[in-house]
Amino acid sequence: MIALVTGAYRGLGLETVKQLAEMNYTVVLTGRKDSVGLEVTHSLNAQNLDVHYHHLDVNSDESIQQLAEFMQRKFGVLDVLVNNAAVHYDMGNNVAEPSWTIVNEAVSTNFIAPWKLTSALLPLLKKSSHARIVNVSSGAGSLQDVTPGTPAYSTTKAALNMLTIQFAGALKAHGIKVNAVCPGWVRTDMGGQAAPRSVQEGAKGIVWAATLPDNGPTGGFFRDGKPIHW
Ligand SMILES: NC(=O)c1ccc[n+]([C@@H]2O[C@H](COP(=O)([O-])OP(=O)(O)OC[C@H]3O[C@@H](n4cnc5c(N)ncnc54)[C@H](OP(=O)(O)O)[C@@H]3O)[C@@H](O)[C@H]2O)c1
Repeated sequence: MIALVTGAYRGLGLETVKQLAEMNYTVVLTGRKDSVGLEVTHSLNAQNLDVHYHHLDVNSDESIQQLAEFMQRKFGVLDVLVNNAAVHYDMGNNVAEPSWTIVNEAVSTNFIAPWKLTSALLPLLKKSSHARIVNVSSGAGSLQDVTPGTPAYSTTKAALNMLTIQFAGALKAHGIKVNAVCPGWVRTDMGGQAAPRSVQEGAKGIVWAATLPDNGPTGGFFRDGKPIHW
């Protein structure tokens, strides 16, 4: 089984790669800084994990295209896509007078990039008999549960949730399950050191959605394998 994770050389992405590889998946670890990606991949290989590195800046159409061509050449199929890369938990940003740089980067990375990447990799996902797509979202994108704040982050995660529903509907007939997962508040560069959860705990719910059985759910929003409010 072949899996691919975006933004995967640190934080929740890296832990998701590890957990999938420990379950005997062949995992393609992607990132935009090749020296870091290669170093991390070599250290996983030294632990006998079948992990391959490939460059991916999710905001570059050319980079997405090159990755899709590599995946086609090397594997010819994709069983799991984890859209994990994201930016800007913008606590200091004021919705009335935002930093438009932050808004634009968040829209591009957190919302448009998963859409483009999913679309580019769909021919390979359709070749799998059990394909799973996991969009790593956040409770901060929940329309029901959110406390106003982090305007760019929250609106882009809400949009990612809608994208999840759209793809789940479009791909149901192909048996491809598409779900959004909130990992909880996790100790990473984005989550900060005050967060209560470890990356191991956070990634577990992502891996759950990536390895769902054929009778598992699609088109849902989950934390720790349990539905949460959109
Ligand atoms: N930590 C939390 O408490 C928490 C809570 C809810 C949801 N989440 C979600 O969980 C996911 C992972 O977050 P994290 O906490 O692990 O964050 P993180 O430690 O900040 O990692 C984010 C990753 O995304 C990558 N990335 C950003 N822009 C990219 C681009 N253009 N192309 C490729 N990679 C890019 C980063 O790589 P660079 O080093 O190259 O920037 C990094 O590897 C995100 O979707 C986040 O929104 C996190």
